[in-house]
Amino acid sequence: MAIKYHESERIYHLFSEGMSYVIQIVNDYPVHLYWGKRLRDEMDWSGMLQRVERSSFCPNPVPEDLSISLDTLPQEYPQYGTSDFREPAYQVQLEDGTRITELKYRNHRILSGKPALNGLPAVYVESDGEAQTLELTLLDDHTGLTVTLLYSVFERLNVVTRSARLSLPQEGASSLRILRALSASVDFHDRDYELLYLSGAWTRERHIQRRQVLPGGTRIESRRGSSSHNMNPFAALVRPNTDEGHGDAYGFSLVYSGNFMAQAEVDQFDLTRVSIGINPFDFSWQLEAGQSFQTPEAVLVYSPDGLGGMSRTYHRLYRTRLCRGVHRDKPRLILVNNWEATYFDFNADKIEAIARAGAELGIELFVLDDGWFGRRDNDHSSLGDWVVDKNKLPNGLRDLAERVNGTGLQFGLWFEPEMISPDSDLYRAHPDWCLHVEGRRRTEARHQLILDMSRQDVRDYLFGALSDILANAPISYVKWDMNRNMTEIGSTQLSPDRQMETAHRYMLGLYELLERVTSTFPHILFESCSGGGGRFDPGMLYYMPQTWTSDDSDAIERLKIQYGTSIVYPVSAMGAHVSAIPNHQVSRLTPLEIRGHVAMSGNFGYELDLTKFDEREKNVVRQQVAAYKQLRPLVQNGDLYRLLSPFEGNETAWMFVSEDRKEAVVFFFRTLAVPNPPLGRLKLQGLDPDRDYRLEGESGLFAGDRLMHYGVNLPRLEGDFVSLVMKFTAV
Ligand code: DGJ
Repeated sequence: MAIKYHESERIYHLFSEGMSYVIQIVNDYPVHLYWGKRLRDEMDWSGMLQRVERSSFCPNPVPEDLSISLDTLPQEYPQYGTSDFREPAYQVQLEDGTRITELKYRNHRILSGKPALNGLPAVYVESDGEAQTLELTLLDDHTGLTVTLLYSVFERLNVVTRSARLSLPQEGASSLRILRALSASVDFHDRDYELLYLSGAWTRERHIQRRQVLPGGTRIESRRGSSSHNMNPFAALVRPNTDEGHGDAYGFSLVYSGNFMAQAEVDQFDLTRVSIGINPFDFSWQLEAGQSFQTPEAVLVYSPDGLGGMSRTYHRLYRTRLCRGVHRDKPRLILVNNWEATYFDFNADKIEAIARAGAELGIELFVLDDGWFGRRDNDHSSLGDWVVDKNKLPNGLRDLAERVNGTGLQFGLWFEPEMISPDSDLYRAHPDWCLHVEGRRRTEARHQLILDMSRQDVRDYLFGALSDILANAPISYVKWDMNRNMTEIGSTQLSPDRQMETAHRYMLGLYELLERVTSTFPHILFESCSGGGGRFDPGMLYYMPQTWTSDDSDAIERLKIQYGTSIVYPVSAMGAHVSAIPNHQVSRLTPLEIRGHVAMSGNFGYELDLTKFDEREKNVVRQQVAAYKQLRPLVQNGDLYRLLSPFEGNETAWMFVSEDRKEAVVFFFRTLAVPNPPLGRLKLQGLDPDRDYRLEGESGLFAGDRLMHYGVNLPRLEGDFVSLVMKFTAV
């Protein structure tokens, strides 16, 4: 891994084991030359840039060189107004109202390691040898604006992280307004691509979409104030023939939890520009002399081995160098959560009974969900009043936590810190603490408003309220929920010219609070949630290493949701629970077996009233819990191979393989019964072709190459909603 500067050609070669990313400074403009399979560094770098003279409709900023037009050069951080008419990476407005700036090369630094981003989540290194960073600084002479482009490459992974820092000098500069500041923009040299992205809705998150890129733009975005159920902050550019195991895939993932935009634009000469960053819609930022604005980080992954290779790179990076804390590498506990078991209707005896039933079956953690505080018997009140409800829990939280601990389970607790109910003591005391616009209606959703996280006093209140509880009861886990999107976005703390900063300042405030809470209580495992997967993004994973994947707990819906989520996110980040039938979201009846197998493909748990199970059901649960404890290291840390897609047919399959390829587990699911079915055979992936494997419960040996190329014969399966688990161990 290295970053090499070839001075005579003014070329930066950023490379990892299998990937190169090449930038050239041409007439002081930063030009994008290449991103893809590794190139030799020891080669003749001259003559790479293709130079063509175009018509006057591609203007020439360098009069003596008509082959230079920003409209045709592939750019690293494109600007608007000086000859590039495509999607710009940034735009600023000066005090005189003009929007013209022209960034030219100023200097560069090459550093070992990877610096942290001030106040923002980002991937990190544990030792400087893991990565190198290029800081490329560009200057607009006229305003003194500098833009520093940050690129980090990792030694062992085909990853480039990118972000930009916009700064004004202390002396001699006037303030300006940033109208857009994206994190990354890459110009690809042709348009033979498709854009793959993840879209959905509440209870239907991260379904895979794939479509051809055509002249014009394809944009995905969120304007909801959070990354959202609807569009995930991720897009990949792939070749039309790219599949799970073959072909180029270029991933763009934004480490941010607020409004984002990702776009693919094909221009008149068939270049494809992909850009990603904070959504410029309803955003601006006032930059004063001496100040800097740091964009969030975009994590770019290149895979020559299809979508599977891209996903495994993201999984490894996010599992080990985005998630943090003592729980990062620890087995995640099997939990039982009371939400779908009791909703708001519980007391201490009921909770203890569920925990005791869980303990008898081998479950390790009990999570008390919504309804334990204020006077919260439904969702109409009390958010913000983080004081235990003595009607439900007369002896308080510590007593309840100890009773749960007494059954042998650890104790976890739900909060929704960012919210405020109009019917709450907090709102009566501080009606101005929510996001709102003076004199206008405050639109409620689920009868709640959103606290203004850009305010220090709000964050201090929340830190105090949460700390009082977390420090005074044996709490090992926190579920941090967030159940609505932003309306009437405004902050009374900000001047009129800064109102469009509110949504981003909210995220910065939230990140600051999360850093404070998680570092004060490092022993607690935090799980993020936003009505399920409304904020399943890398920003949240930096503070909380797992997320409640979806409020849809139906096993069949979960096949798609978990499959789609795995395009970017590791399964160690995905909460997955067995729930009751008929399912509470879609009323489907499925066997306990398939519900278990789908949930065992993530961070496993139950979300139902275990006290209502009969002996047969208890036995199934006992076996599932015991099986998961055995499989847990493989599922949580293994390499994921997706074998059959639920988006393409009646069958779904995926498998996990240990890093040394000695252990593998295959999960196979069939949704509906097929009369007089064809023979079933499943080809596996990721095994060692030269090893023999034993299949648990079967005699004989299976060669790795046979399992991958011929496949494993599947038994005949009867009925709807059936599943199989096959565990292979190398001999
Ligand atoms: C939404 C979450 O996704 C659910 O799991 C549950 O915690 C409810 N909120 C509680 O209000």
